[in-house]
Amino acid sequence: MAVERVLSGMRPTGNLHLGHYHGVLKNWTRLQHEHECLFFVADWHALTTHYDTPQVIEESVWEMVIDWLAAGVDPASATVFIQSRVPEHAELHMLLSMITPLGWLERVPTYKDQQEKLSSKDLSTYGFLGYPLLQSADILIYRATQVPVGADQVPHIEFTREIARRFNHIYGREPGFEEKAEAAIKKLGNKKGALYEELRTRYQESGDDDALEAARALIHEQQGLSLGDRERLLGFLEGGGKMILIEPEAVLTPASKMPGLDGQKMSKSYNNTISLRESPDAISKKIRTMPTDPARIRRTDPGDPAKCPVWHLHEVYSDDAKREWVNLSCRSAAIGCIECKQPVIDAVLAELKPIQERAALYAEDPTLVKNIVSDGCDKARRQARETMREVREVMGLSYS
Ligand code: TRP
Ligand code: SF4
Repeated sequence: MAVERVLSGMRPTGNLHLGHYHGVLKNWTRLQHEHECLFFVADWHALTTHYDTPQVIEESVWEMVIDWLAAGVDPASATVFIQSRVPEHAELHMLLSMITPLGWLERVPTYKDQQEKLSSKDLSTYGFLGYPLLQSADILIYRATQVPVGADQVPHIEFTREIARRFNHIYGREPGFEEKAEAAIKKLGNKKGALYEELRTRYQESGDDDALEAARALIHEQQGLSLGDRERLLGFLEGGGKMILIEPEAVLTPASKMPGLDGQKMSKSYNNTISLRESPDAISKKIRTMPTDPARIRRTDPGDPAKCPVWHLHEVYSDDAKREWVNLSCRSAAIGCIECKQPVIDAVLAELKPIQERAALYAEDPTLVKNIVSDGCDKARRQARETMREVREVMGLSYS
């Protein structure tokens, strides 16, 4: 199997809620057992829209890391770090800006969309225009192959692929590339060299993607290959120059089915959230006061779950038997709404209990959290530096 490296980031702009948990965090905690994972706090990205309220960002950074850890992100399996603590991201962003056509940035759909949506804020800034390029730098600097994101972010990954391609096209064409690639094949040894050639031919002659995958895996598994030779062999497979930056793929985060307290999708902007560290009392109260089917004015009025936001929560939290019970007893007015809500309250509290217990441990021990992040930053920085060394070299910036 080809080596996968997963990277994703989140902007620190407030408390995380059940929508984040069911949408993003459960996905991350699954991925961390399957692949090498890096998860980071995108504090610079938050500044692009919150440049005039940096306090919000400052307060949210550690709280967000605590929420991640509480939700099950395991620092023993995943690298957790803060973007601004790895300044190499900024350097790559700046260097990539040299080859980024303005039109590409202006055409990214989120650019105009967000400017219109957040019209109260002046987003005609250089930083905001460059948002997707900063994101590209985040991704490319780790040579990430997979980027879990929501559907709205897919154009940013597409953009990143185009930037990587352009970079490799401009800087990956060293003099004598073919000869160097041939020499690298020899270093694989007779057997593997022949296999590489065969797979390359299969891919180039008939577009056989399995052959391409197999050849990539062969290269990744090969010990003792220099970074330069590895890139030549990867690039040679597809007929281009060196693959210095890797084109990542978007992995669509399953759309969060988490409904909010009013039946719309749970989101901070709708003010319908349950945050991960809200007290059990507050949560019970929020659910008890949720709107229900407006037809049920009196306890004896029958209702229709299809018209009730509480039903959507049963869809997330209840098994078939419980849903059957809701369906029948709502329609026949055999139960009242408070009775119907109780199992949902119990389920949400049961889900959050271990999360809140873990969060309390981390919140009580800020040094522990800081150490986890500090280790993560060190690890990330080491990987980022390696890419930057090469980027500088091919861009003619490694003077000695
Ligand atoms: N733009 C992403 C969001 O708003 C956050 C982000 C920044 C990100 N850099 C990233 C996500 C790199 C994935 C990879 O959700
Ligand atoms: Fe909604 Fe349940 Fe009340 Fe029916 S009984 S209206 S499903 S809360």
